[in-house]
Amino acid sequence: MPTIVVASPKGGVGNSTTANILMTSLARRGASVIGVDADLNRPQIKWAKRAGVRTLSDQRQSAPTVLSSLTVIEETGEKSLIATIEAAAARTQFVVVDLEGIASQAATFAISQADMVIIPCGPSYLDATEAAAVLRVVTACEKMARRPLHIPAAVLLTKTSPAVRPDTLGEVERQFAAHKRLYMTAGCKCGPHMRPYSAGACRYTTSAPEKSTNSTPPSKTRKPSWRKPSAGSTMLRLALKGL
Ligand SMILES: Nc1ncnc2c1ncn2[C@@H]1O[C@H](COP(=O)(O)OP(=O)(O)O)[C@@H](O)[C@H]1O
Ligand SMILES: [Mg+2]
Repeated sequence: MPTIVVASPKGGVGNSTTANILMTSLARRGASVIGVDADLNRPQIKWAKRAGVRTLSDQRQSAPTVLSSLTVIEETGEKSLIATIEAAAARTQFVVVDLEGIASQAATFAISQADMVIIPCGPSYLDATEAAAVLRVVTACEKMARRPLHIPAAVLLTKTSPAVRPDTLGEVERQFAAHKRLYMTAGCKCGPHMRPYSAGACRYTTSAPEKSTNSTPPSKTRKPSWRKPSAGSTMLRLALKGL
């Protein structure tokens, strides 16, 4: 059954929060879910113990008081991670894997088992460049399979504000959407040239933007809106090149 891996090597971008919202939302809708906590800090296990959700750590199983279709498993062993994900996927409807916010072999192993990869990314070029690195790991896993394999993977923008929309956020959003690597959320403002993609990601269409019906000639005094790309924007463009 589907395995959803939440992965960003950048700590603090919202990996654990995203994984937690996903697994509890699925369980609330009646699905059976196993959350695999692959972070040494055990954020999901700590949360589950406080919340009364069933946990399976150190071979001890606790009885649930809420969300009976959700179980959180601790798996911090790099070598046993694939086997744990496989076993979980065989006995539940959804597996959600929360990885540590570092680039590790465990992340590559988990991605190799994924049916979908969510890459949380804050509105900064640093976060976005790290997110692009995960997309490259996904592409490498697809190639390693030596058979046609497509792992849907895209960026989920986190820590955005509905009130403040910095230029950096717009540019990060635009660049990932141009590569069809952005999950559409309520906060996405990708503009008229993008529309929701079937898997929830944005799709950048190649058609020209609609022409304005206003026949007034453009003002001669208006300066072109082109601005020199910032260093961060160029860094991200290079990180996404070829994806
Ligand atoms: N989408 C979001 N919007 C605002 N704050 C968020 C969001 N996701 C996470 N956070 C906050 O960011 C902090 C780090 O989140 P966490 O999920 O622990 O990150 P990570 O697992 O990547 O280290 C927490 O304080 C969390 O509440
Ligand atoms: Mg975390």
